[in-house]
Amino acid sequence: MSRRPVIAGNWKMHKLQAESAQLVNDLMAELKDMDKATMPEVVVAPVFTSLYAVNKAMTDCGCGRVRLACQNCYFETQGAFTGEVSVEMAKDAGCEYIIIGHSERRQYFGETDEMVNKKAKKILAEGLVPIICCGESLEQREAGVTDSHIASQIKAALNGLTPDEVAKSIIAYEPIWAIGTGKTCDSVEANRVIAMIRGVVKDIAGANAADAIRILYGGSVKPETIEEQMAQSDIDGALVGGASLKADSFAKIVRGALK
Ligand code: 13P
Repeated sequence: MSRRPVIAGNWKMHKLQAESAQLVNDLMAELKDMDKATMPEVVVAPVFTSLYAVNKAMTDCGCGRVRLACQNCYFETQGAFTGEVSVEMAKDAGCEYIIIGHSERRQYFGETDEMVNKKAKKILAEGLVPIICCGESLEQREAGVTDSHIASQIKAALNGLTPDEVAKSIIAYEPIWAIGTGKTCDSVEANRVIAMIRGVVKDIAGANAADAIRILYGGSVKPETIEEQMAQSDIDGALVGGASLKADSFAKIVRGALK
C-alpha cells in the first residue's frame, strides 16, 4: 500500500500569536501552487496560545493545504487539572492531530509511557490523530539498547488500541541526540529503526495496520536531508523542529518529500 507522506512542523515554545499567524500565512503562500490531491499532508503544531490565531489564518485563507496540531494534551475530559488542556478543547481550537510523548515532554515534564498510552486512547476516541514520539538517548544508543528501548516505548504506547486505531495513528522516531543538534541520523539507520518499529506494530496489530501506519523521522531534518530520507523504504515523512520555523525552509522540506 502506498502511504501518504506527512510533513509536520513542531514549533515548540516559539512564536507569539501575530508571528504564528504570519508564519502560517507565509507557509500557505509558499505551498499555494501545490496540488492538494498529491501533496504531502502538511501539519503545523504551534503553542496553545497561538492555536486560535493560526486556525483563523487557515480558515480565512480557505486553501486547505495546512492542518493544525498541538504539542500536548491531557487524557481526562475535564475537571480540576490546573494548567492542562483536554483533547476536546484542542479539537475545539481546530486541531486534528496531537503530538504526544515528545522526548522534551518525557525529559522535562515527566511524561511516562503509561500517560502516552492514555493520551493516545483519548485522542483516537475523540477522532483525532496522535503523533506518538519515541527515540533513544545517546547513552542508550552507545549501550546498544536502541531497538529494545524503542520497541518497549511503542508497545506501551499502542497497548489496548484496536488495529484500526493503530492504522490511523502516526509514529515519529526521533533519536534524542539528533534533536536540535544539527546531527541528522544517517538515513539508512533511521530507516532500519523505522522498519523495526513497523515490525513491532505488525506483531501488536497485524499486517494491515503495520502497512497503513505512517512512521516519520525527526531530528535535524533540513531541506538538504529530506530527499534522501524520503527515498528510504519505510520513512513516511518528517517531524521538523527548527527548520519548520521559517516558511521557506519548511516549504522546501514539503516539496522535497515528493521527489
Ligand atoms: P529539530 O528539527 O530542531 O532537530 O527538532 C526535532 C523535533 O524535536 C521535532 O519534534
